[in-house]
Order: sequence, then structure tokens, then C-alpha cells
Amino acid sequence: MGRPEALPTYDDATTATTPHPWLHRRQKRKTLRVLGAAAMTYLAYTTFKIATNTEPPISSLSIAKLQEDHAVCANLRHQPVESGAHRDHNKRWVKSTKPVLISNATIWTGEPATGTSEQDARAGKGWGWIASDVFTDRGLIISVQPSIKLKDLPHNTEIFEANGRQLTAGIVDMHSHAGLESLGNLQSDDNELSSDITPYVRSLDGIDPLQPEFESIKSGGVTTSLFLPGSGNNIGGEAFVLKFAVGPKNGRTEISQQDLIADPDRTWRYLKMACGENPKRAYGKVGERGPFSRLGEAWEFRHALEQARSYVQDQDDWCAKADTVGVDKMESYLRRDLQWETLGAVLRGQVRVNTHCYTIPDLEAFVRHTNEFKFRVYAFHHAHQTYLVPEVLKRTWGGTPAAALFADNMYYKVEAYTASERAGAILYAHNITPTYVSDNPVLNSQHVVFEAAKAYGYGLPYHAALAGVTSAPAELLGLGHRIGKVKSGFDADIVVWDSDPLSAGATPVQVWIDGAKQFSEPIELKKPLTPAIQPDTDLAHEYTTRIARGAVVFTGLSYSHSSFVSNGADVSQKHSVAIITDGKLACVGTCTSELAELEATRSATQTINLKDGYLTPGLVAFGSSLGLAEIDAESDTHDGPYVEQGTTSALDGLSFGGKQLMRAFEHGVIRAFTAPGEGGIDSRGVSVAFNTGAKNALEEGAILYPELALHYPLTLAAKGGKTPSISSAIGLLRSQLLDAAVDGHTEKLNTTEKAWLKRVVTGDSALVLSAHSADTIASIIRLKSQVESASSQKIRIVIIGGAEAHLIADELAASNIAVVLAPLLPHAQSWDQRRGLTGPPLTNVSTNILLDAGVDLGIGVEETWETRDLGLLAGIALANSEGRLSFDEALDLVGANFFNILGLEVSKSDPHDWVVWEGSPLEIGGRVKAIGGVGSTTIWK
Ligand SMILES: *[C@@H]1O[C@H](CO)[C@@H](O)[C@H](O)[C@H]1NC(C)=O
Ligand SMILES: *[C@@H]1O[C@H](CO)[C@@H](O)[C@H](O)[C@H]1NC(C)=O
Ligand SMILES: *[C@@H]1O[C@H](CO)[C@@H](O)[C@H](O)[C@H]1NC(C)=O
Repeated sequence: MGRPEALPTYDDATTATTPHPWLHRRQKRKTLRVLGAAAMTYLAYTTFKIATNTEPPISSLSIAKLQEDHAVCANLRHQPVESGAHRDHNKRWVKSTKPVLISNATIWTGEPATGTSEQDARAGKGWGWIASDVFTDRGLIISVQPSIKLKDLPHNTEIFEANGRQLTAGIVDMHSHAGLESLGNLQSDDNELSSDITPYVRSLDGIDPLQPEFESIKSGGVTTSLFLPGSGNNIGGEAFVLKFAVGPKNGRTEISQQDLIADPDRTWRYLKMACGENPKRAYGKVGERGPFSRLGEAWEFRHALEQARSYVQDQDDWCAKADTVGVDKMESYLRRDLQWETLGAVLRGQVRVNTHCYTIPDLEAFVRHTNEFKFRVYAFHHAHQTYLVPEVLKRTWGGTPAAALFADNMYYKVEAYTASERAGAILYAHNITPTYVSDNPVLNSQHVVFEAAKAYGYGLPYHAALAGVTSAPAELLGLGHRIGKVKSGFDADIVVWDSDPLSAGATPVQVWIDGAKQFSEPIELKKPLTPAIQPDTDLAHEYTTRIARGAVVFTGLSYSHSSFVSNGADVSQKHSVAIITDGKLACVGTCTSELAELEATRSATQTINLKDGYLTPGLVAFGSSLGLAEIDAESDTHDGPYVEQGTTSALDGLSFGGKQLMRAFEHGVIRAFTAPGEGGIDSRGVSVAFNTGAKNALEEGAILYPELALHYPLTLAAKGGKTPSISSAIGLLRSQLLDAAVDGHTEKLNTTEKAWLKRVVTGDSALVLSAHSADTIASIIRLKSQVESASSQKIRIVIIGGAEAHLIADELAASNIAVVLAPLLPHAQSWDQRRGLTGPPLTNVSTNILLDAGVDLGIGVEETWETRDLGLLAGIALANSEGRLSFDEALDLVGANFFNILGLEVSKSDPHDWVVWEGSPLEIGGRVKAIGGVGSTTIWK
């Protein structure tokens, strides 16, 4: 190879910039180009000056520099070539890395069986998991075949026994900002916000290889990522494809940015662009600077590309002339300008553009730009509206871009409000590639494979979902011949999983990068060996919903939650039935007499035959902003911020009928316990419990508990206003509670905060405190005992957040404080969460530590969109519980436990509180079929 090191960006950056007399004129010429016709008189003057001046003769130009410039012409004309040629070794291979035999694995190679037609492959035929061994050496996968004999391998080969576990290629996340923000987000280097058009900056310059998230991301099986600048700028800068092996402990020789680069040949370059809300918000200033609107953004793009086009033309003209007349006769040097160099390379086809673009106007304008300036865009990122306009995408110059998506993170801003969970499936059906990305830290890249898993659950074929985090992004990065598959000749980036990677809770057992093992003492969960998922093509079928009145009989129940089995119902046998009458659960079990009665009375009945049916109570969203905030970034769609003084009651701010509530309801989350606030776990005021499917607050059954519990924030969000520190916030709360404890009077006005504090100290109401830090939690434990000794009553405290609760689990249990984990899987998004556990193979599991200590637990969410995934989150806790949780107990983490920890009566007796599912609610692919209601049943078919 050799050539790519000489790509302009790198040698431009190192070329000595000694000013030359010619530069002065060049600048004038540039100015002229900008001023255009209006400056013609000036042009005449300049020409005259040049002609009459005592110009240095041509020979005064440095021949050496002219020749150097001429050599650059070859680079400018170079078209990147992905070498599929046989490699003797991987250039990233470190010689101390020994050969490895991974034996007895169940392998997803990333390709269909040989001989599968393209059409069949697209339709999902010919794909499968194969029982095989893998042998790696010199940083490459050497062979993938069953029964590789050790005697045929080098004597120093290390053996890894996979014991039948699933093995895939390393996960590729093509949208990450890892390493650009420091632990707890204290520092950020992801956006160069000095100007809207910064093609000349490079993400690599800000990447800190020592960020702890490199290790935790890799512990999710992610081996390679595209590290993009942020989306604050229309043109944000160059991106880099890096691998997550850092320093000697990961089998590298040094800790450096350079050592992370995935392709030492640097075949391709990458550029980040962004459309829409972000650049407008970052720059638009009336009368001062744009872009103020999408109109201005289109101009910013076109104007920049116009500069690049003329830059390219100048260079091409120079090179052509130098070729013709001979370089020593050239009267000027080759034009070199770092500002436009990267965009020039884009127009030369050397750079893979990745563009953050959500909406139809953004996508369509960008597609026009590609046609006007003739450059490719490889993927639209965020791309939440691409599923609506596949034909627009197909008009992109140079080939249809892929869509880099989240599975179900949506509604957080206007641009994301029209998103669909089925986007991936729809795009795939239109021959457009969906890939799944984290946008770390927006989602934790560690769990990007969970995005692919959910996409499968939402109807994307299984093989396409898995490709969406392996071979598809690899190909989009121009590295499809090297990474993303388990195939001889590919980089030895390999993950052995403890279960099917597209199942809830799937966790790597070990990860290799370039053949080097990444975890020296991996923590492995005790999980039974489970077969890979049998892809369910029915998931592609989108349900429609309707309302049923009268009797509905569900057959084929294989599970019913214990709360329904009290009346001697028999669900131990398969083919159990559930009978629903006017939305009420009337019978569960064999229901022989009830069925006979229905038959006898010839009641209008419909029967729904379930394949693996589940009957559960409704799931509960605790502490989210469901019903109070619809679009996170738009305050007009919120009830509003909590106030520091007085008591706000969430009931007064509820709005029904939003998409957030609808999605929660459709996912079986039919109860929401919501507290005042604008999202996140930090609330202040009195929460409400309500039905997510209700039409308004006055509808029968809409409100379960108008006043539920008193909430206070004690995370970093507590700092501000009257309590600038955590200590002052705790101090104020303590004195208020102690006041309430010693104050004998019962308040007349029961809606004041004082009255609520009184309810707390008398044990009539729970106090819900948001906190992540183990030290804040310690203060809360102390506060609880102080108040209890003052009032001689037990008080009820619930902590929401709890990233560091595992550090103080025994003390929490001893003081009877319940914890609602939100998020379930923390990733140090704030300083007070930095000691949260990210899970195996790197750390133990937080839920398990808390369960072992005997802490009462629930699972909440940090962001409203996640409420739809509560079942899956409980599934993750179950899968990783090593037997600590039964199925019912896992379900209760997002249900009955909230009633218990708040001291409410479990709504066991509510005959409307039930959900029928097809497939397990705790597994990918489980879907809601019916939900109880007052007088009617909502059915999905
Ligand atoms: C492969 O692993 C499975 C599951 O642990 C085990 O039953 C089987 O005996 C193993 N096969 C070999 C050849 O070791
Ligand atoms: C407030 O008073 C009303 C009416 O007396 C009562 O129904 C309600 O439960 C009280 N709320 C609290 C928080 O004490
Ligand atoms: C994980 O938990 C096990 C069992 O409780 C314990 O022995 C081990 O030290 C823990 N490992 C880490 C890294 O905390």
C-alpha cells in the first residue's frame, strides 16, 4: 500500500508553512473569486500590477516543492480501493498475540450458506448458526470449521472452550462519540462550535483513549466504532474508525490515539455532516449569523461545497498543466488549503460522508446537494423519517444511503416525533439497509446490540438485525472485507456470548480484537446454555388494534402470573384459557364450566388462539414523565418544571392521548406512577398513579391514586436555587422533616408541602428521593433514622436512580429503603453515577448485589421513551439473575413491587388490570394481544 499515508490531509498538516510571496497574491485571487463580478475593476488593477511589477522569475519557485506538489496530484486522483486480497497477517497484529483456537462454538458467520441466491438471502433463507471451531493467528481468522485438530496448530496456540455458546463477529457501532466526553460528562470535545462549517477538524484530535467507557463499551461486544464529531455543525469534521483495544492490557504495545485506528492503511476517510434542528440552534442569530433556518442550512452546505468544488478545480487544473508542460515550468505551486481539503476529498470520492438527518425536508435537501455537487452519502443517521421516503433516498447521487437508527428511542425532539418502531423493517422491505447505532453517550454503546434485538422484535428479519450491528456497518465503513463477519481472512474480532446476542440480557463471555483476548478475568454469569433464537417471521406482521365488547376467550396460555391463580385456577397445564367479560378477567385455567356456560347462553364470543400466551398484570412505569411531558426537548409539550416551594401535584398537570402514553400502553405498561418534573428521575411534588390508556382524567378508572407519594431530587439536579449544594438540599429536607416530626398540629390545608411532610413522618405517605451517589444514599439512610427517632414512627423512603446503591446494599436493606433502579444499566452519565456497575464481563450485576442484600427493588426508566421497554428490562434482570429471580418476581420489578414499596394495597383485586401477550413479555418478540378495560377489551391482531 504505502500510498494512503500520503493522503493530503496528513501531509498537508505537516507541510511547512513558510510564507511565500505568491501566497499573498493567491489570497487576493481568492478574495476576487468571492467578490465576483463586482470586483472586476480591482482585477484589472491587479493584472496590471502583476504584468508591470518586477515579478520573480519562474525559476525562483522551489523545484523541490513543485515536485512535491506534483507527487500530491497522484493522491488527489486516487480512488480508494478496498483490498480483498489474501492477507498474510493483519497489519494491526501485535507479535506477542498468540494463536487462539476457540472450540465448540455456535457461530453466526454473517453470511448465508454458500449457494444461497441473493433473493433467498434477503428473504432470510440460508442463514443459520453453525457448530464450529475458529482458529485465529497473526490477527486474522485463519479457519472456521468443525473439529480443528490441535495437533495441526502451532504449539503456542491458546485454547478457549466455548462450550457450545454463540459466537459472532465483533459488534460495529457506526455512530459513537466515545472518548470525546469525560467520565460523568465533565468535559466535552465532540463539537467544534466556533463555526458551522468545520470540515477541517478531526474527532481523533479529541479522543482520550483512557476514558473508562472504552472498557465498558467493549464489554458489550463492541470492537469497532465510527467516532464522529457531534451534530452541532452542518459540517462537523472528520470521523475515524477505531477499535476498542487500548494499551498493553488489551494486547497493544502503546496507549495512543494512533494505535486505535482500525485500518492502518487508512483506505477511507470519513466526514460528519448534520441537518436540521441542531445547527440552527447552535448558530442562528438574528441579523448576525446563520443558519437560522433550514433554508440557511442548505445555503451553508451549498456554499461550502461550492468552495470545495472550486478548490478541486484549481488543483485539477494545476495537475493537468504540470503533467502537460512539465512541473519545472509551473508558475505557481499547487493550491493547498486545509480549510477545504477535506471537502475537496469528499468531491473526489475519497471520503465516506455520514450525515445526521431526521426529517423529509432535511433528507430531501441533502439528496439535492449530493446531486448538485456529485458526492456520496453512505448513511443518514438518526434518520427517523427515512422509512417514510425510501424513494427520496434512492435519488441520492452515487447510491442509496443506509439508515443508521435507534430501535425505539424517539419522540425526544420534534424531528423524532414521527419515528416508527417498524422503521427498520419497512426500510429493509424497500431494499434500504438499516444499521443500529448508539450515538454514545445518547445510548450506551455497550448495549447497541440490544437495539438490533429490539429491531428484530419490531419485525426486521433476524439476519438483517444482526447484520445491522456487524456486516452492514462494516460495509458502510468500507471495511466489509475485513470486519463484521466470522470468515477466514477477516480481522480476528470475535465475541463469545452467554446467549443469543439478540435475546434480552445477552452478555459477552469473552471478546477478542485482532486475535487478542480483551478481558483477563472476565466475570461470567451462570447461565444455562440456551439454543439460538428461531427467527419468528410473524413479527413482520404489524398488528392493528380494535375494541371488543362482551366475552373474549383466549386459548393457548402457557403462563399466568401467580396473582391470577388464587381462585384454584389451573394454569399448570398447557392450553389454559382466559375468559374476559367486558374487559374483566372472568376466569383463568381450564375454565370448563365457564366455557360450557358461554356455549349454552350462546353469548357473542370471540376466541383468540395464542401461540405461547402469557397473562400478566399491567406493567407499571414508576417515576417517568409519562403524561407530563410529550416531546422532551419542547417545553410547550410539558406540564412544566417543578417549583422549589409548595407542593405541585402531578394530577393537575396530566395530559392524555399523547404518543408516549400510547406506546407505553401498547407495550403493556398500563399504569404510570408519575411525579412532577420535565423528564428524568428528578421530581418535586406529589405523584399520581393513572391508567396510560385513559382518554382523560375524568374517565372511569383513569386515576388509580390521585396522590401517591412525595418526591424530592437529591441527585446533582438538587444543586441550585436555595440549595446550591447536595449537603444543603439534604440539610433542608432534614430540618423540614424534623419540624414535621415534632409539630403536633395537623395541618388544615392538606395540600401544602408541610402537610405532605407530616404524612411522610407519620408513615402515611412514602418519600421518594432521586439519588445515585452512594454517599448521598448514606446521608439518606442517616436522615431516615434521625427522623424516625424524632417521630418514633417508621417512615417509608424509596430511592430512585441508585446507580451506586450496590456499594451500600446491606445498609439500605437494614434501613428498609427500597431502590428503583433508573436506569437499570448505568453508564456514568453524571459524576454521581461513576461507580455504577456496567455488568459482566467487566463487573458484577447491580441488581444481584441488591437482591442478595435483601433490598426491595423496582426498575424505572430515566427517559420516557424507555417505558415501552420495561418488560425487556425486567427480562434482562431475570436473564442475569443467576436464579435469584423467578419469572413472577422479575415481572414484579416492573409491577407489583411499586405498590409494595409505596405501601399501597397491591391491585390484585382489580379485574381490569391484566395483559395478554403472545410470547414472553420479558423476551424480545413478546407482543401484547389484549389489555383489560372498563366495559371493553383492547385487542391487537
Ligand atoms: C460442546 O459443548 C456442549 C455444551 O457444553 C457439550 O455438551 C459438548 O459435549 C461439547 N462438545 C465437545 C466436542 O466438546
Ligand atoms: C386531602 O383532603 C382530602 C379531603 O379531605 C382527602 O381526600 C385527601 O386524601 C387528602 N390528601 C392528603 C394528601 O392528605
Ligand atoms: C463479583 O462477585 C463475586 C461473588 O459475590 C465476588 O467474589 C467477586 O469478588 C466480585 N467481583 C468483582 C470484580 O467485584
